[in-house]
Amino acid sequence: MGTNYASLPLNLYNFDLMNILLLGSGGREHAIAWKLSQSKNLPQLFIAPGNAGTSDHGTNIPIDINDFASVSHAVRQHHIELVIIGPEAPLVNGLADRLALDFPSLPVVGPRASGAQLEGSKSFSKDFMARHQIPTAKYHEFTKTTMDEGIGFLQQQQLPIVLKADGLAAGKGVLICQSHEEAISEFREMLSGKFGEAGSTVVIEEFLDGIEFSVFVLTDGMDYKILPVAKDYKRIGEGDTGLNTGGMGSISPVPFVTPALMQRVESEIIQPTIRGIQEDDLEYCGFIFFGLINVAGNPMVIEYNCRLGDPETQSVLARLNNDLIELCLSACSGTLSKQMISISEKTVATIVVVAGGYPGPYEKGKVIKGLDAFDEGIIFHAGTRKAGDQTVTNGGRVLAVTSFGETVEEAVDKSRDRAGAVTFEGAYFRKDIGFDLV
Ligand code: AMP
Ligand code: GLY
Repeated sequence: MGTNYASLPLNLYNFDLMNILLLGSGGREHAIAWKLSQSKNLPQLFIAPGNAGTSDHGTNIPIDINDFASVSHAVRQHHIELVIIGPEAPLVNGLADRLALDFPSLPVVGPRASGAQLEGSKSFSKDFMARHQIPTAKYHEFTKTTMDEGIGFLQQQQLPIVLKADGLAAGKGVLICQSHEEAISEFREMLSGKFGEAGSTVVIEEFLDGIEFSVFVLTDGMDYKILPVAKDYKRIGEGDTGLNTGGMGSISPVPFVTPALMQRVESEIIQPTIRGIQEDDLEYCGFIFFGLINVAGNPMVIEYNCRLGDPETQSVLARLNNDLIELCLSACSGTLSKQMISISEKTVATIVVVAGGYPGPYEKGKVIKGLDAFDEGIIFHAGTRKAGDQTVTNGGRVLAVTSFGETVEEAVDKSRDRAGAVTFEGAYFRKDIGFDLV
């Protein structure tokens, strides 16, 4: 297990003014910054590299977070007392390990590389689930040397067939093939380098038919706390059609995720995962994102991520009543068992506004209008930056509009109305987020 911070004197955390470094630049990070800024611990927040929205809550630092020397330099320069790592790439590449070497007593939220393999390698996570009897799709893995065997195997599979590149492929490494010809051709291309190194091992998986949902826990490697459940909407088009995206919207809570289903998720999936992390000596202090699917009433794991989801975080943190800094410090000091999670009864809906053309090629630098205050919720920024006194687009997913309601309909209506009042050239959002839940 990682360093035990429980033995550190509490005043080392400097509760009255705490310097925190948050890494990332998406809507997820704006939501984390927003939540941190409400802490009674008076955070002095630094966000690297951040976006136009995060700069409302602290100081953006324009560094490349995949350049670990720059991150360590920022920690030193700004006397950082807590680091929260948002995205997966630096985690998988070992940023938490590097920070532990450079600053042995610094609390860091985000697993070491050993733990981040749960997301960084599909083959690792499938073997982990098999080893710890965690329900997931049946699978086989192949490499270039076993390509012919793989093709033989593919020919015997029922359709559709799921192919997964082993490594991180920026959300593009999963293919669901509707014919054997397509599966064989994609399989060959993946093993021939279509996704670079990430595809040097390919996992062939049984297709699971059901509705997906996302469960997040914060763990210190021993104990865990379950955060509000959410559902995200990945396809670009209404009715869940068209290309896959990073996520076009999210809802929390999810009506079909009943207390009975959550009980099973906890006992059949979360607990064996935390036990597996301990048994396999994975170093894990941070969030685990369980990408789950309800297959005829049975929860199964589609994938693990070693971070929070985007845009789920916007809906999840909006419902969390706890002080996020306290939860993070508690995870880092191995005292999570003392925390009680408190969740708002409200329903939250998040609608993502994207650049025209996304998830294909899109333009940046479009002036965004209509960002004034929003009483019914929050407009989180994703791909935005400040240009003089204007805010301009700077990515595919531009904004995430999050609203509260008594029902899914009410929350979605508010977010939809507000999203429609934000304008920039080419702006697009799905108007049907939550359609399957009402
Ligand atoms: P992943 O990157 O593993 O989350 O996969 C991306 C998306 O592909 C998931 O959110 C699912 O919608 C879909 N998917 C992945 N694996 C399967 C599977 N075995 N059966 C059905 N759909 C899947
Ligand atoms: N919304 C899915 C993800 O963050 O990977």
